[in-house]
Amino acid sequence: MRDRNNNIILTGFMGSGKTTAGIRLSYRLRLPLLDTDKWIEKEEGRTISEIFALQGEETFRKMETSALRTLLELEGEQIISTGGGLPMREENRELLKKLGTVVFLRIKPETVYERLKGDNTRPLLKKADPMKEIRRLLELRNPVYQECADITVDVDGKDFEEIISEIIDRT
Ligand code: S3P
Repeated sequence: MRDRNNNIILTGFMGSGKTTAGIRLSYRLRLPLLDTDKWIEKEEGRTISEIFALQGEETFRKMETSALRTLLELEGEQIISTGGGLPMREENRELLKKLGTVVFLRIKPETVYERLKGDNTRPLLKKADPMKEIRRLLELRNPVYQECADITVDVDGKDFEEIISEIIDRT
């Protein structure tokens, strides 16, 4: 048997709707919501963009691990939404599995592009050709999200009600 808590953890690429799905799930299931990015921003007193610019991505990744370790200590069930790159560290994948049911919100590159064009809060997409970067990262990350997920939900063309119902039915 796996050593796990009873949380629902939302993973997936930037723009896949983890934050919005998290808010709605939390409301529907009456469970507290925790967001690793917001957690880190509060702990550090800096935005994610500032952390990337001043301390670098590697330091941010370590902060994600430490956020997961703290979450493991919490009692009770919660909805946890995570940063899009968090499952890329093996240690983080192990922690995610211990935390509960891992949901992968799968999204197509075109949908990410449509949703995030003009957004300047994602340091990783501040490239000359964001679409190319989205495709490159998705190719790298999709197998990893998939490997660590208990359930995969395709989000393209669905509204949040459908997505939430699918998560509730399948967890
Ligand atoms: C990142 C995703 C972001 C945030 C940071 C890095 C990534 O979170 O953690 O900018 O590596 O994909 P969202 O997935 O909530 O945008």
